[in-house]
Amino acid sequence: MIFNLDLFLYVAFALVSSVQAVVVSRSPYAITNKTLVLYDDNLEEQSFSSQYSSFLKLIESNGFEAVVKQADSSADITLFDRFGNRLYDNVLVFPAKARSLSKSINQGILEQFAKKGGNFLFVSSNKGTQTDSSLFLNQLGIYPSPKKYKFIDYHNANTEQSLVDSIQKPIFLNDVIVPIDVEVDQLAYKDGSVSILNNNEFLIPLLKASDSSVTYDIDRGYISSESTWHSGSQGFLMAGSQALNNARTLWIGSESILSNSDINEQLVDSLLKWVFQIDGIIKAEFFNHTKVDREGNELNVTRNDKSLAENGPDYKVKDFCKFEIGISQWNGHQWVPYNSSDVQLEFSMLDPYYRLTLDFQEVREAAVYGTIFQIPDQHGMFTFRVDYKRPGLSFIDESTVVPVRHLANDEYPRSWEITNSWVYVTSFFAVVAAWLLFVFFYILSANKPVESQEKKNN
Ligand SMILES: *[C@@H]1O[C@H](CO)[C@@H](O)[C@H](O)[C@H]1NC(C)=O
Ligand SMILES: *[C@@H]1O[C@H](CO)[C@@H](O)[C@H](O)[C@H]1NC(C)=O
Ligand SMILES: *[C@@H]1O[C@H](CO)[C@@H](O)[C@H](O)[C@H]1NC(C)=O
Ligand SMILES: *[C@@H]1O[C@H](CO)[C@@H](O)[C@H](O)[C@H]1NC(C)=O
Repeated sequence: MIFNLDLFLYVAFALVSSVQAVVVSRSPYAITNKTLVLYDDNLEEQSFSSQYSSFLKLIESNGFEAVVKQADSSADITLFDRFGNRLYDNVLVFPAKARSLSKSINQGILEQFAKKGGNFLFVSSNKGTQTDSSLFLNQLGIYPSPKKYKFIDYHNANTEQSLVDSIQKPIFLNDVIVPIDVEVDQLAYKDGSVSILNNNEFLIPLLKASDSSVTYDIDRGYISSESTWHSGSQGFLMAGSQALNNARTLWIGSESILSNSDINEQLVDSLLKWVFQIDGIIKAEFFNHTKVDREGNELNVTRNDKSLAENGPDYKVKDFCKFEIGISQWNGHQWVPYNSSDVQLEFSMLDPYYRLTLDFQEVREAAVYGTIFQIPDQHGMFTFRVDYKRPGLSFIDESTVVPVRHLANDEYPRSWEITNSWVYVTSFFAVVAAWLLFVFFYILSANKPVESQEKKNN
């Protein structure tokens, strides 16, 4: 009996500790904790779930419940409740032939979902991309190859028709989305499509097609300018996009990257973590500026505290100012200090008067970056602004406006403090002294009246 109790305790302890060992990472911005997965209506749910079970498990291990549904023009799937709130945090769309993803999802709804901060993962194949998804991607500047276009490479493919079915040693172009320690020797890329990208600055190219590859319409026969979609490194196999509200979209050219038989869990996990806003999330914790003296010591501000709280310090031209911003990063579980060496401050009125790289100062509740600088000899409304936008990371754009006044007329240096004026001050005193001397001698050195010669003679 005692033995059994011991065994029971042992098993219970082992269970508890193994549960604790699996720490699910999650997104700090998740609202619903749900991810919608849409797949082609020609597939059985059973076969989809078994073909992509590892992928679905990865979704769960990132803190989201995977809601798997068939995309079908007559399906009753909505992305919003009747108050317009999102029902899902993320939507993943597998290649589907349906004319629309559901009765109530069209391109406009997809856009609205992204506007409200929802994330997308779109998967294409060489059978084309679902129409609404494709229109949505085009808006972002991603143009996947249409139906029937085939991705071939005469130099690097080993199938008979030179169709590409895997990429050897892929080089990922963004190390926030795919960190350097993710090792991929061979990336499955069966029945893949290729996108061309426009020059939208919010696009994040992730994987390029090889220089010797081409996508063209095989049915038309020879490669020609009309039948070619991309040639060489013009084409992309994966690309991301992040909107100003930090909503993320990732496009992948082949579903074999995600299927059980070829999945590279480390790679797919990092892709999902980026899409789900778990990786590459930074935020400004505080944003502070104050008036200091030349050595960087804080000054006693003369105005009362309430006015200081409302209006900030009272800057005048050529004052010294200390600026600080605290930036932290989400590590999947909590906010930790963010390390970087390229955070910049702009101090601008219409144009930046200063653009200063901020130095790392210390770690408080976040990593603190700051600098001390002298306000230019120009009065007006100035803006402190930190506009930190790096591909893959969420955007920081903080600013605050402060007035900078000119000197009051009792704040100019007195004449005797200015060495240049000493010449003029001296000459002034010299003139005063000379005049006083003149008056003194004029009054006191009066001669006796000169007696006239004639009078004497008389
Ligand atoms: C989502 O998950 C977080 C963390 O587990 C939890 O705090 C939150 O209440 C969940 N939200 C919903 C709507 O279930
Ligand atoms: C910002 O600066 C003011 C004035 O020096 C200070 O009172 C306040 O604590 C600072 N806030 C943070 C978050 O550092
Ligand atoms: C600021 O005020 C404190 C006490 O009110 C005083 O000790 C300190 O010297 C003052 N500093 C300056 C720079 O005037
Ligand atoms: C930031 O740098 C500090 C010290 O240089 C280090 O201890 C910390 O782990 C780094 N944090 C990250 C997120 O890299």
